[in-house]
Amino acid sequence: MTRFAGSSVIITGAASGIGRETALRFAREGALVTVADRDEAGARGTVDAITGDGGTARASVTDVAERTEVRAMVEGAVAAYGRLDVLHNNAYWAPLNRAVADTSEEEWSRTIAVTLTGVFLGCKFAIPHMVAGGGGAIVNTASTAALAATPAFAAYAAAKGGVVALTRSVAFDYGRRGIRCNAVAPGLVRTPATEPVFRDPERMRFLTEKLLVGRAGEPGDIAAAVLFLASAEAGFMTGQTMVVDGGRLIA
Ligand SMILES: NC(=O)c1ccc[n+]([C@@H]2O[C@H](COP(=O)([O-])OP(=O)(O)OC[C@H]3O[C@@H](n4cnc5c(N)ncnc54)[C@H](O)[C@@H]3O)[C@@H](O)[C@H]2O)c1
Repeated sequence: MTRFAGSSVIITGAASGIGRETALRFAREGALVTVADRDEAGARGTVDAITGDGGTARASVTDVAERTEVRAMVEGAVAAYGRLDVLHNNAYWAPLNRAVADTSEEEWSRTIAVTLTGVFLGCKFAIPHMVAGGGGAIVNTASTAALAATPAFAAYAAAKGGVVALTRSVAFDYGRRGIRCNAVAPGLVRTPATEPVFRDPERMRFLTEKLLVGRAGEPGDIAAAVLFLASAEAGFMTGQTMVVDGGRLIA
């Protein structure tokens, strides 16, 4: 399939995990990929994997919490590829195992800055280029933690709840100017970020006892949903949060 032939696509948090797999899949389907991450070595690793596979990619060393860096990320993609068609806001940061009273104000602020403000900044700087180019698609990574309580993950849940609401606002305000904005809400997915969770029996019991498909997610499970939401096949969907969680939330 080449659903994204010639499309310019930015993926944040693309040095690792879900973002990396999503970047590889966009490239395999013909996209001109900007691999954005604050981890420079990791971003270059993703770029090397894509170009080694015959795809087209460039790295953008970006801290999504910094407005000047996010603006440079967007302008760099437009300068390199002449346009911007898809933005996948996927980078996050949050402390694990923190109920509200145990969360420091610094942890709260950094979680909101990266996980929520980073999505806002990506949309803010990408939208004018997308509108000028005739439209585009934004896919934000939310989480099932935004839709149902997860133990001791308060700042993260609040930031992801904001991502779900922001997704609707962007869809509402820019739909008539050719922009669709949707979110994907992963359940438990095995990535470098969740390795500590897989080693925590109590948390694993909470997260897996209601897994209807009998396994945790893999990055490809989420990447497949992201590519669908970004593609013309999802042309009648906007403002939605698509849950991809092995059935845990409905169980
Ligand atoms: N893995 C899961 O179980 C799961 C579940 C629900 C939601 N998610 C969401 O999926 C997305 C990807 O998570 P993952 O599991 O692949 O994590 P990961 O740790 O493998 O990847 C996250 C990437 O974000 C980058 N990053 C962190 N702070 C950044 C910043 N300030 N600026 C730019 N990049 C930054 C990291 O360097 C890393 O490459 C996140 O939005 C996460 O909340 C993951």
